[in-house]
Amino acid sequence: MAFFSTEGLSISFGGLKALADVSIDVQRNSISAIIGPNGAGKTTLFNCISGIYRAQQGRIIFKDKEIHRLPPHKIAALGIARTYQNVELFAHMTTMDNLMLGRHLFLKTGLLSGATLFHSRSRSARDEIANRDRVEQIIDFLELQAARNEFVSNLPFGTQKKVELGRALALEPELLLLDEPCAGMNVEEKQDLMIWLKDIQEEFGITCLLIEHDMSLVMEISERITVLNYGRKIAEGTPDQIQNDPQVLEAYLGGDDRAEN
Ligand SMILES: Nc1ncnc2c1ncn2[C@@H]1O[C@H](COP(=O)(O)OP(=O)(O)OP(=O)(O)O)[C@@H](O)[C@H]1O
Ligand SMILES: [Mg+2]
Repeated sequence: MAFFSTEGLSISFGGLKALADVSIDVQRNSISAIIGPNGAGKTTLFNCISGIYRAQQGRIIFKDKEIHRLPPHKIAALGIARTYQNVELFAHMTTMDNLMLGRHLFLKTGLLSGATLFHSRSRSARDEIANRDRVEQIIDFLELQAARNEFVSNLPFGTQKKVELGRALALEPELLLLDEPCAGMNVEEKQDLMIWLKDIQEEFGITCLLIEHDMSLVMEISERITVLNYGRKIAEGTPDQIQNDPQVLEAYLGGDDRAEN
């Protein structure tokens, strides 16, 4: 059985089928991508996986456990973290505080919640130091030192995307969902992101599923790609297979009115 899968997911908003019978499989410790034109249902799929939306049909299975009826905090506690297309951080807090808060919220709802009640003071202090160390490591890893004490609202969008990636990593997930991680980044930042994603996969052993419009990044780092169009899966395969798939070319070239943003 796959590490993570969706089976026949469907969800409609009014008359609009945002997802229609979407099944995907993700292998443990892989990097996979979801691509498709604007409005294809990519973010909706992430919202279903993370429990923000409840699919009207279908199942979502993570490590042999059905998760599609669970609330978002339980799904996060099982080890699925995400970033958002438009960044959802605390804008009037610093980078450091956003990462620390992310970690505290995780620990509260995570496995340690019961245990913390019985902590001695020194134990709590030790935990706090461990948390801070972990967050400092992430700040170093993502080269966020310059942004460390800045309010997030003062940072460029590309840096905010990095902070959000850092917050997701602070949750120590097993599956990381990234919604357009390189939006707003310059060429150099995109190169860095590509290397970090490889490291996240190889060194931290985290499985990555990303939505991305930047085709050079997608083709370079993804092992498998799923293509959505109007809520349906129209193709899946390796980057080579996807680049040569007539239906995919049609979906991208056919609708001029839905050009990338
Ligand atoms: N809460 C909602 N209420 C109504 N319609 C919605 C809702 N969420 C998504 N939709 C619709 O579902 C469709 C899919 O949207 P979604 O955001 O998943 O697309 P996407 O593939 O992420 O597009 P983009 O590349 O532009 O981010 C769109 O037509 C969108 O307007
Ligand atoms: Mg989207």
